[in-house]
Amino acid sequence: MQRKVSVIGSGNVGATAARSIADKELADVVVLDILEGIPQGKGLDMLEACPVEGSDARVLGTNDYADTAGSDIVVVTAGLARKPGMSRDDLLTKNCAIIKSVTEQVVEHSPDCIIIPVTNPLDAMCQVVYRVSGFPRERVIGMAGVLDSARMRTFIAQALDVSVENTHAFVLGGHGDTMVPLPRYSTVAGVPITELLDQDTIDAIVKRTAGGGAEIVKLLGTGSAYYAPGSAVVEMVEAILKDKKKILPCAAFLQGEYGISDLFVGVPVKLGARGLEQIVQIELSESEQAALDKSADAVRELVQIIAM
Ligand code: NAI
Ligand code: 2OP
Repeated sequence: MQRKVSVIGSGNVGATAARSIADKELADVVVLDILEGIPQGKGLDMLEACPVEGSDARVLGTNDYADTAGSDIVVVTAGLARKPGMSRDDLLTKNCAIIKSVTEQVVEHSPDCIIIPVTNPLDAMCQVVYRVSGFPRERVIGMAGVLDSARMRTFIAQALDVSVENTHAFVLGGHGDTMVPLPRYSTVAGVPITELLDQDTIDAIVKRTAGGGAEIVKLLGTGSAYYAPGSAVVEMVEAILKDKKKILPCAAFLQGEYGISDLFVGVPVKLGARGLEQIVQIELSESEQAALDKSADAVRELVQIIAM
């Protein structure tokens, strides 16, 4: 294969995403971790699944950034996951140090890549990757909105007993408790859910979506979600590698769009071969804009703590 995707962090999210990229034969995959043996073992295991999956992707597990050289995309999942009772924001300082060092090494070996940060707190970690890499904003695009929207789509499909394929959901803002699910722009077969569901049901869906990560953390008892996050990463990777020009909610560095500047916040973007090819601006009501501003303020608070 000619395309190469490196996944930094061979833990739950990293390994799940890496396996799916290899299974779908989207690219050759390198999985890197600081743990010795784990990325090598998981990488070999994934490679040995490829004959069964009918994929000729090459998969390599490593501790050496030299193996990631020349990657088209680097997905960054390295860091600590949330534990029960721990908020995403508690992770801030520890993951900031990890992401700084990871970014420096990624950039040294793949100066032209597109980086997809996943590590939490997501929007603040995007800011770290953006500043440390010196990449243009087109090449640093955070994964969170695809996951949050997938959760909302799941709950909409359940409420209306329809196929998830008929659902579309819009979630803007930071990947935290202040995220902004937008019922007005969330549809089933093109019809806004505001015309299909009563207000109490919509409120419950919005609340469950915003608490979607915490719900899984509580159930698992240790660690956080990884199947849906892994799938969400792969949707972004596929959109870029196949130059699909797909509009997806992603964390993007805003420069005045939605009235927000110099900050990563989740908004709809067009993903293609060049990475972030356009920030799509949709009209927000006064209360939707106020909720987005509040969410941006929460991200800004974290960014100020880490002085990025
Ligand atoms: P995990 O604990 O299973 O895996 C993390 C991996 O990173 C571990 O294998 C660890 O050894 C590795 N690591 C730590 N420091 C490293 C370094 N300096 N270089 C390379 N590897 C390093 O955690 P999981 O479940 O995979 O989650 C990873 C991150 O993604 C967490 O911060 C989590 O909160 C976040 N996350 C974000 C989501 C989003 O929507 N943005 C969704 C799900 C998880
Ligand atoms: C999630 O939303 C932990 O951010 C992660 O599942």
